[in-house]
Amino acid sequence: MKSAFYVTTPIYYVNDVPHIGHAYCTVLADVLARYHRLQGEEVLFLTGTDEHGQKVEKAAAEKGLEPQIHADKMVIPFKKLWQRYEISYDDFIRTTESRHQKVVQAIFQKLSDQGDIYKGYYEGWYCIHEETFWPESQLIEKKCPECHRPVEWLKEESYYFRCSKYTDKLLDWINGHENFITPISRRNEVISLIKSGIQDISVSRTSISWGIPVPFNKSHTIYVWFDALINYLTGAGYLIDQEKFDRFWPPVHLLGKDILKFHAIVWPCMLLALGIKLPQAIATTGFWTLGSEKISKSKGIVIDPNELADEFGIDVVRYFFIRQVPIGQDGEFTRQALVRRLNHDLANDLGNLLHRSLPMVKRYFSGKIPKPSKETSLTDHLRKKAEKTIEEYFTAFNKQQLREAIAVTWQLVSHANKYIDQVAPWQLYKEEKTSQLVEATYGLLETIRIIALLISPFIPSTARKIYQQLGLSSAPEDQGFSYLKWGNLPANLEVSLGEPLFPRVEDK
Ligand code: ME8
Ligand code: MG
Repeated sequence: MKSAFYVTTPIYYVNDVPHIGHAYCTVLADVLARYHRLQGEEVLFLTGTDEHGQKVEKAAAEKGLEPQIHADKMVIPFKKLWQRYEISYDDFIRTTESRHQKVVQAIFQKLSDQGDIYKGYYEGWYCIHEETFWPESQLIEKKCPECHRPVEWLKEESYYFRCSKYTDKLLDWINGHENFITPISRRNEVISLIKSGIQDISVSRTSISWGIPVPFNKSHTIYVWFDALINYLTGAGYLIDQEKFDRFWPPVHLLGKDILKFHAIVWPCMLLALGIKLPQAIATTGFWTLGSEKISKSKGIVIDPNELADEFGIDVVRYFFIRQVPIGQDGEFTRQALVRRLNHDLANDLGNLLHRSLPMVKRYFSGKIPKPSKETSLTDHLRKKAEKTIEEYFTAFNKQQLREAIAVTWQLVSHANKYIDQVAPWQLYKEEKTSQLVEATYGLLETIRIIALLISPFIPSTARKIYQQLGLSSAPEDQGFSYLKWGNLPANLEVSLGEPLFPRVEDK
């Protein structure tokens, strides 16, 4: 049986339209999903929307809409954006779906039955925007330490989840699994948080109604985070499709550093209480910033992923997301930086490689790819470089170093560009060294085909275009990485020169 891979994104609040941070995390998950499919694995890629809670309720009220109607409206721009960005999710979960509500209630009941949920009283601060309870000691100037908005005082009966009972076990697990939380700085942060002591957490509210009712006490609504985290179980078929669940669990979670505590402390404690295996990895991303400030609607710092797509095209944005910063670090999102990447890496390096190589087939071989009957030494070096690149690319991916995987691929692009200068095919043509010309041309095109396969998880539509220009009838996605082997490019394909892949853009 094929091996299986399960990757998730956060489920996004539907209080507003998607922004660049949502697009970023979702593209990263998409790259991983595509990579694992190309490896021949069976993939479950889950994304979706977080539709309950006070923040969404408030946004709906401001528009004068019922929360469900509002959610039904707001989910559309997310789905549209994901389609546009070629997000290849296998399932899209909405927390208002009944398949999810059933699982949440069953879990709440189970944890209560086993004594891990108990009734208490909450008195303290709450940030609606972050949907987070804050101890007074963590507030900054009486405001939410995460988003700096005013917090409100809550005083109500509440059910609690016995988080504190599981934190020792969790700490043992973290200490025994070096790559459970990445990057290392985040891992250390979680370890010291746990060591400083974790309280039981409030998991219900009586003062709000937009949410899933506590199954045995309808005057309580289940806390939106308790509800939301469970989406990862629902999506994998927990309590719904046991076979599916056994196949895909545990997942790789991708999420931003703002919601690390929920994912690296609360969530694993819930899973420990349920006797479910902990996630394979919790990969934390940094923030895109502008002038060092987090890009966020509330601060009026906005970059619209649709406008970016209009101006530059999807693949430029996808490429920039991954190439600009390693996962885990913050990055400045400037137009100038993006335009530089476009002009330098995409238009110059990759674009020129195609623009120089394909016409050779037209000029010297009337448009049909020649294949040498036997290999001589002229392409040895190029083949070895390609093979080494493939190895380094796999190594990088296995460590989720997506930026590194792109970087080594671009070294191969540069190498191929230099190869053209070195072998000077025009000279070989002039001197009528036909067998050498055949060999050099084939070697170049084969390198380009391999590059197209390697970039396919990152910039899938560019990869497909390159395949088409090479005259291949299948797409990289249909072939998979078993085709990375040198020599797979068939002879006699008819190349076609399309429009330049990436027109240069003026650096304003
Ligand atoms: O937190 N740079 O949803 P959310 C990079 N519903 N990433 C950013 C970003 C930025 N400037 N701003 C936001 C929620 N993000 C919950 C999640 S999961 C069970 C529930 C990304 O709509 C980042 O990944 O506020 C962050 O974690 C996510 O958007 C939060 O989206
Ligand atoms: Mg947020």
